[in-house]
Amino acid sequence: MSTEYVARKPDANGFIAYPEQENEIWAELYARQAVNLPGRACQEYLDGLEKLGLPTDRIPQLAEVDNILLDATGWKTAAVPALISFERFFELLANRQFPVATFIRSREEFDYLQEPDIFHEIFGHCPLLTNQAFANFSHAYGKLGLAATKEERVFLARLYWFTVEFGLLKSKEGERRIYGGGILSSPGETLYAFSDTPLRKPFDLVDVLRTPYRIDIMQPVYFEIENIDFLDEIARMDIMQSITKARALGLHAPLYEPKAKAV
Ligand SMILES: [Fe+2]
Repeated sequence: MSTEYVARKPDANGFIAYPEQENEIWAELYARQAVNLPGRACQEYLDGLEKLGLPTDRIPQLAEVDNILLDATGWKTAAVPALISFERFFELLANRQFPVATFIRSREEFDYLQEPDIFHEIFGHCPLLTNQAFANFSHAYGKLGLAATKEERVFLARLYWFTVEFGLLKSKEGERRIYGGGILSSPGETLYAFSDTPLRKPFDLVDVLRTPYRIDIMQPVYFEIENIDFLDEIARMDIMQSITKARALGLHAPLYEPKAKAV
């Protein structure tokens, strides 16, 4: 994958001066998605969003987010280029640093872009990094990824995809809620995830590891965990052994059409 986007560089004080048009894009993305959250985003995410107190009218500075995250779970963000290697990605997570590419999508790609921009990373993921179970899982995942082989990392990527990016959970009242940042930063997918179209399955580690996905479509299948603390349980499972099992069993048939052109 390649990208046209270039992350903005912070000055000597770590400050990034975003042009007004970019702050406006943040403000519009925030306003458009905020109305979709009640009754759909999980409580832990909503609590985290409140804790972070993100600005609604401009792109936040990473230091503002870090102050809250460090205090809550010992995490911080790390400013990175638009695309980073798997190696760097795992290394950051293993050091409790969450990579944030410091660029925002263009107006032409307002609804969807393949690259994770600052709205996706901060609005989609950072609220849950105030949650200890989510933080523990992300840390354990980074350590596993760092030690994994290239082939094993492909399986690990599916685990991340169906949890941190597109995970659903059950609220205390037994209601379906979203914790995946890929959904939470997308108004279209937030509504779609509750529709009759996608398949929703209870989380099963080997099943997740065997499920292929495409990054450029609404997901045909989601996996649901019982509650956010279950992420801590996954982190304690023998994930590498499950990867061995998943490799032996092979991948499930995709629930989507193949892409017209291979990427
Ligand atoms: Fe993400």
